[in-house]
This record gives sequence, C-alpha cells and structure tokens, in this order.
Amino acid sequence: MKITCIGAGYIGSVTGTSLSVMGHHCTIIDIDAAKVDAINAGTSPIYEPGLQDLIQLQAGTFLFASTSYQSVYDADVVFIGVGTPSLEDGSADLSYIRAAAANIAKHLNPDRFTVIVNKSTVPVGTGEEVTSMIEHISGLRPGEHFAVASNPEFLREGHALEDVFFPDRIVVGASAGRAKERLKELYAPFMRRDLLVKAAQLLGIQEREIVPPVYFETDLRSAEMIKYASNAFLAVKISYINEVARFCEAVGANVMDVAQGMGLDSRIGNQFLQVSSGWSGSCFPKDTAELLNASQKHGQELSIVKAAIESNYQMHLYIANKVHDRIGSLQNRTIGILGLTFKPNTDDTRHTQAAVLIRKFSECGAVIRAHDPKGMTGFHQRNNDLPVIYCSTGEQVAEGADVLVLVTHWPEYKVLDWKWMHEAMRSPYILDTRNFLNPEEMRGLGFMYEGLGLGT
Ligand code: UGA
Repeated sequence: MKITCIGAGYIGSVTGTSLSVMGHHCTIIDIDAAKVDAINAGTSPIYEPGLQDLIQLQAGTFLFASTSYQSVYDADVVFIGVGTPSLEDGSADLSYIRAAAANIAKHLNPDRFTVIVNKSTVPVGTGEEVTSMIEHISGLRPGEHFAVASNPEFLREGHALEDVFFPDRIVVGASAGRAKERLKELYAPFMRRDLLVKAAQLLGIQEREIVPPVYFETDLRSAEMIKYASNAFLAVKISYINEVARFCEAVGANVMDVAQGMGLDSRIGNQFLQVSSGWSGSCFPKDTAELLNASQKHGQELSIVKAAIESNYQMHLYIANKVHDRIGSLQNRTIGILGLTFKPNTDDTRHTQAAVLIRKFSECGAVIRAHDPKGMTGFHQRNNDLPVIYCSTGEQVAEGADVLVLVTHWPEYKVLDWKWMHEAMRSPYILDTRNFLNPEEMRGLGFMYEGLGLGT
C-alpha cells in the first residue's frame, strides 16, 4: 500500500519505518527540512535504539521523506503523528493536528478513497472534528472519498521498535466499514508469524516469543479513549507502588519483594511496579492532565487520576525532602545527579523528574553537578535557567559531592568506577531512586546507600 505519515517525530518515524519494513511504500512528511533530509540520507531524525539501522536499510527504496504534502494524493492511508502538547489548563493543544488535517484536505485525490488515521494521542471527539474539517476544506464526502479512523500508538520510547513490531494489541476505531477493511489489510503483515520472525531477526531480537497481536476493532471514540485510559492506568499503577514504597519505609517492609509478590498474580502483572522518583516524560504528564481536564468538563471527574497526579508530585518532593533530611541544609552543598532523561535509552528530557528535583535543590542553595549519557544537551536547552555543572562522565559528578542522587537507571551507571567516586565525594551518601544499584556492593565500598522502600 501507499502510506503517508505526517510528522517525523517518534510516532511518524517509527510507524513509517516499520510499515516500510513490512512491505508498504511510505513517505514521511515534516515541516522540518533537517529531519526530512536526515531520513532521505538514511539517518534517524530521533534517538531511538535500532531505528537508525532500519532507516538506513529502507531509505530510498520503501521509505521516503518530504516537506511537501504531495504524496497524500496517491496515498491509501495517511497517518497523522504530530505532537499534542499540553496547554496551560492541561488540555491537549490540537493546533498541529488541525494544521495537518487542513493540509491533507487540500491534497486529497477525489478519485480515490483515502483513510486518514489519527495515531497521535487525541481527545475523544477529535476524529469527528478532523472529519468535519476535511469535509469542509476539501468539499469531499466522508464515507465516499475519505474516512477518518483512530489507531492509537502504544510504543514506549527506548523500546519503540520492539513495541511497534510486537505489540500486545492493535486498536482500530472507525465508523466506516471500508476504513476498517483498509486498515486490516494494512496491518495483515503484522499478524503473520513468519514475517514477525523475519522482523525479529532484522532487529536482532532472539529471545522473544513471537506471538501475533490481538487485532481489536471498535468505534472511533472508544479507540481514542482506550489510549488515554491505558496511559492513565499505567501512571496510577506506578504512583500506587511509589506510595507503597513510602509506606514500606515506614513499616520496614521491602517494596522490591512486595512488588514481585504482587506481580505474581496474573490479574496484577509484574510490569510498571518499579519504584522511582515519579513518572514523567512526554506522555504520562500531558495525557493524565488532558484526561482529568476532559473528565471535569463532562462532570465526571476521574478522581483516581487526579490523585495519581498529586501523588506523583508528592513523590518528587519526597525525594527532595529525603536528601534534606540526610544532609541538613543544602546551602552550598554539592548534589550530584545521575540521569536527566525521564527514563533510560532515550534522549528525551521533556518534563523530567530531574528538572523538578534540580530546581528544588538549587532553590535551597545547592550546587548541582549532573550527567546523562544522552540527555545533557536537551536538558540544558529546556532548563537553561538552572545552574547545572554538566559533567562529561558519570564519575565526575561525584567530585566534591555531599550526596549523589541516581534519578535515571541508565545501564552504564551500574559499571561506573564507584570506588573512585567514593574517594572523590565529600560525604559518600547515595540515594538510588530506582533501587537499581546493589546495596551490599555499595555499602561494601563505604557508601551510605539508600534506596526507596527497601526495609530495615
Ligand atoms: C508511555 C506508555 O508506556 C506507552 O505505552 C505509550 O505509547 C507512551 O507513553 C505514549 O503515550 O506515547 P513512555 O512515556 O515512552 O511510554 O515511557 P514509559 O516506559 O511508560 O515510562 C513513563 C514514566 O514512568 C518514566 O518516567 C518511567 O521511568 C516511569 N516508570 C515506568 C516508573 O517509574 N516505573 C515503572 O515501573 C515504569
């Protein structure tokens, strides 16, 4: 099939590339010429493990990029994968969606039936709004010349390729049967075990059991809701285990064992029970805010989501207070931060826990030294008012530090020269907000090691 993906961010790049690998002919459109040139030159416009190799393989044969909307004219399916950031009140900013819809409308071919798919996370009702916009601008009839569907994306940054080739489910919402048929045909290769095995080989994934996803069809509004309800549920789950971790600390239980014991119940599951200084990033904060905002507007406030947002903020503060409790006044004390991205294996520094913590520490007069394997440039650009000393290695963060706070569990932090770091610190206190390091090993090196909810 001929596919166009609007937006060369996470959704567009990963969707376009994966569909091209599965044999479709894809054009990714972006207003940013640098991103377009990167794809056409066979390089990835974003940092995502494995994506660079696939783009290199596909560019110029099945994968193309352009700043022009021309490819919409010949497309069987057009994906909208542009950003939906938060507005001041928490609601989603749909201006990029509307701009994409307007441009699509101007380039539709009246002699074809084109399916336009919202892959971006959009509030319930957006599919219908996009339908009316396109109808109004193009003068073409929905159901006859085009149809709008919802096909939410569930990929995680850092695991995007694995998630896109081997999702648990593919959700498609549409009112037009013709649109559903078209998308079923589009996704047919993802339901074939033999092609998935090939994809796994291409990605270098050996250990994974290859099970085709569940293909779930529903109406437009329900598909849009599934995405928000899923993200908010995961955020609630993390906030829950983080609160349990705090309670474990109070009563001397070990949250790692508690999470493992809970997760053995298949109704609960063992994922998203990893403690942290709170969830963050480009999705959970904006999606929980939008869901809460929309539910309030409809007089059906999701109070659990509201509580999770508040609990998450309290979790950030809990970490800040813990440091304060351990070393007293932060005035002129040096705090070393390991990890600035919202999780490992991404360079994304939008809405990170680290930014909240660093802001708190600097307000109290602390000197901040920080390191991140991929996120230092992005973090500095977003938070250039924060007085951070950026260190070129994780080890250097320890120099003269009174405390080290491990915020993001990058695998390379396990193998830092901790012995050297211990010598370099003014006082060897380490707060591991991910319970990632080995407490015995750390204590053996002379650190005062503390995790979260690790009991007595
Ligand atoms: C999340 C969802 O997991 C994806 O399914 C969804 O497609 C995506 O949002 C989106 O809406 O685009 P992502 O934001 O990339 O993906 O990252 P996650 O792996 O979900 O992590 C989110 C935050 O929760 C991070 O700060 C992470 O460190 C934290 N987290 C995650 C925990 O603190 N504990 C956990 O057990 C898991």
